[in-house]
Order: sequence, then structure tokens, then C-alpha cells
Amino acid sequence: MPEQEFRKLVRSIGWLGVYLLGAVSTLFLGLFIFMNQKPTPSITAPTTPTQTAALSIAERSAQSGDAQLQDGYAFFVHTDETLGPQQENPTRRITGNGLKCSSCHLNEGTQPFGLPLNGVSQRFPQYRGREDKVGTLAERVNGCFTRSMNGKALDTIQYEMKAIISYIDWLDVNQAGTEAQKVKGLKPIELPNRAVDLTHGKDVYDRACALCHQGNGLGLKNPGAISYTYPPLWGPDAYNNGAGMSRVITAAQFIKNNMPFGINYENPILTDEEAYDVAGYINQQTRPQKPNLEQDFPNLVKKPVSTPYPPYLDPFPQSQHQMGPYPEIIAYYAEKYKEVKKN
Ligand code: HEC
Ligand code: HEC
Repeated sequence: MPEQEFRKLVRSIGWLGVYLLGAVSTLFLGLFIFMNQKPTPSITAPTTPTQTAALSIAERSAQSGDAQLQDGYAFFVHTDETLGPQQENPTRRITGNGLKCSSCHLNEGTQPFGLPLNGVSQRFPQYRGREDKVGTLAERVNGCFTRSMNGKALDTIQYEMKAIISYIDWLDVNQAGTEAQKVKGLKPIELPNRAVDLTHGKDVYDRACALCHQGNGLGLKNPGAISYTYPPLWGPDAYNNGAGMSRVITAAQFIKNNMPFGINYENPILTDEEAYDVAGYINQQTRPQKPNLEQDFPNLVKKPVSTPYPPYLDPFPQSQHQMGPYPEIIAYYAEKYKEVKKN
């Protein structure tokens, strides 16, 4: 804008007006950019000097010529469309909600601190506290099928399981040497030494999450579509109460470093307290209930402190396991059982 016209504008609406105008247009621009953030996975290219450097995971798995791997990729990234409750073929009706594996294992299972699956193949068989035994990768995948996906367990030698494991194995080789491969799981946050503040949690939710996951938490999909554009956080199509994400500490770690969608662990926008409160708020909403949860963690020493369902091996009430404060529970296990608790 030429200087003269700018002066005229200042004279007519005053400096405050100009500031307001600037603020409002910045806000709209910000909102516009925010709302146009699409869940487009940006995969870091491999460091090997080949012409495939710019290819996405989808393209590379397609080029592999390995049909089982390609199916595994589809089961992982389009779980709702390939193994969801609306499948015509009953043997393909495995999951019981509207999620995809990649709704949580972000960027097709490669996102650092977004529950990446690189390196997982090498870590199994692995001791698992939930079952108190050494479990295979197939059993671990079934853990997510029956909890995160609120569905059925697959036979460990069934084709769909073998295909998913092919994809997980392939990721490992394919992502060798990348940053994602070095990190595993989630990044810890500093836990506030207080209970979750649900009012603050709702406030954070309305401000930073509702835009995509909707005010009612049920997510957003086009009418008639199988797939959600923005997945549900509670309600019938969400993860069940036995899922890892139903633990406040796990959810807070995920949310802090991955949400609102588009950020990553290098540029989080929520504080630890905001992530903690919004995680507590989400996990207090209604969601599918998994039967027989009292049978989890036969060795209760191994039960994560924010597991929302009893029994517990400590004198703290269920409400404190669901919503904190956690430091005293963590200290109790450290002292009494020499057990280091992470979530
Ligand atoms: C609602 C979120 C969510 C969804 C959806 C989900 N998972 Fe998970 N998954 C998790 C969390 C959280 C963990 C770590 C959990 C824990 O500590 O118990 C995990 C752990 C795993 C692990 C072990 C990783 C490791 O580092 O040891 C595998 C393998 C896995 N998931 C596979 C899958 C597959 C395959 C699907 C789809 C069928 C799936 N997950 C869907 C949340 C999810
Ligand atoms: C810009 C849109 C957007 C915003 C804002 C947003 N999310 Fe998400 N969220 C997504 C998308 C998209 C996914 C699934 C990612 C994928 O499929 O690649 C997701 C996945 C999730 C998941 C795991 C999947 C599930 O449905 O359980 C959780 C939990 C979650 N978001 C919580 C939050 C919280 C809490 C906030 C607010 C702090 C938030 N999100 C803000 C878009 C958003």
C-alpha cells in the first residue's frame, strides 16, 4: 500500500483500527492455514543415493512387487476400508471402530515420537507386563486389534496378520539409518504434581482440538464415507478403555508431541500441563468397554500407573489412577517394589 493511502487509512480509522485490522487478518490467515492442514504424511526420504529418494512409502511398497507387503501396507494405513466393521467378507471384519493403525502410528508408522514402528521387529519376542509373559510381535499387534481398534484378535498365522508383519518388517529395513528409526514409542513429559483439571482440559480441547475432532469428540467424515477425515477421540468408533491411549500419561505424551495435527516433537505448541489436562478430559468421556480387563497384568507390579481400571497393588483410589496426581504413586512403586514406572 502506498504511504499516502496508508496515512489516509490511519487518519480515518486511527492506529488502533489499523492494529485491529492487522490482528484480524493475521487471525484469519492463521485459521485458514490451520484448517487447510490436511493429514498428508511427509515421509523423510531414505539417505541412500538412489533415484527412489523422493518416493513415498506407498510408492516404494508398491514398487516392491511383493503382494503380501502391499496388502500389509493397505491394512495398516487403510484399516477402516480393508479390515473394518463394514467389510462384506466376514473374515475381513476384524476391527470394531473407525480408526486406522496409522491414526496413532503416525506417518504410516514412521513418525519420531508418534509411536513409530521402526525397529519393532527386532525388539520382539519381548516381555509384556499386560500378559506377564514373553509375547510375539503377532500377539502385540493383536493387543492393538482388540483394544486400540476395539476388534477381534487375528489368528497369528492368518494372512492378514502375516501381511501386517511383513509391512512392519519392511519398514525396518526401508527406514534404516533415518531419524525415525532411532527413536521408539513416545517422548516423556514432565508430569504435573496434581490431579487432571477437567475444566482446563475442556478449555484446551475446545480451543485446540475441536476444530478437527469436533466438539462432540466423534470425529468427522463425509456422509456415506467409511473413512474419517478426522478420527473420533471418544464415542462408539473410538479406542476402547483397555487401549494404551486410554492411559492419561500415554495419551498426554502422544498429544504433546503430535497434536494439533501438523506439529511434531521439535515444535510442540501445547505445554505439558495442557497436554495432561486435555488427555484426562478425553479419557473421561464414554468409549467402548473391553470385557475381562481385570485379567490384564497378572503381575500387578507391572501395571502402568495410569491404567484406568482396577485391580491395583497399591492403596491409591481408581480415580487417582485415572486422573493423578501420579508422582506419589510412582514413588510408591519405586520404594516398595523397586519398579520404575513410565506411564
Ligand atoms: C488408538 C491408538 C492406536 C491405534 C489405532 C493402534 N495402536 Fe498400536 N499402539 C498404540 C500405543 C499407545 C502403543 C504403545 C502401547 C503401550 O505402551 O502399551 C502401541 C503399540 C503397538 C506396537 C508395539 C510397538 C512397540 O514399540 O513395542 C505394535 C506392533 C502396534 N502397536 C501395532 C499396531 C497395529 C498393527 C495397529 C492396527 C491394527 C495399531 N497398532 C493400532 C496405539 C495405537
Ligand atoms: C488439524 C486437525 C487436528 C487437530 C486440530 C487435532 N487433531 Fe488429533 N488427529 C488429527 C488427525 C488427522 C489424526 C489422525 C492422523 C492420521 O491418520 O494420520 C489425529 C489423531 C489423533 C489421536 C489418535 C487417534 C484417535 O482418534 O484416537 C488423538 C488421541 C488425537 N488426535 C488427539 C488430539 C488432541 C487432544 C487435540 C487437541 C490438542 C488434537 N488431536 C488436535 C487431526 C487433528
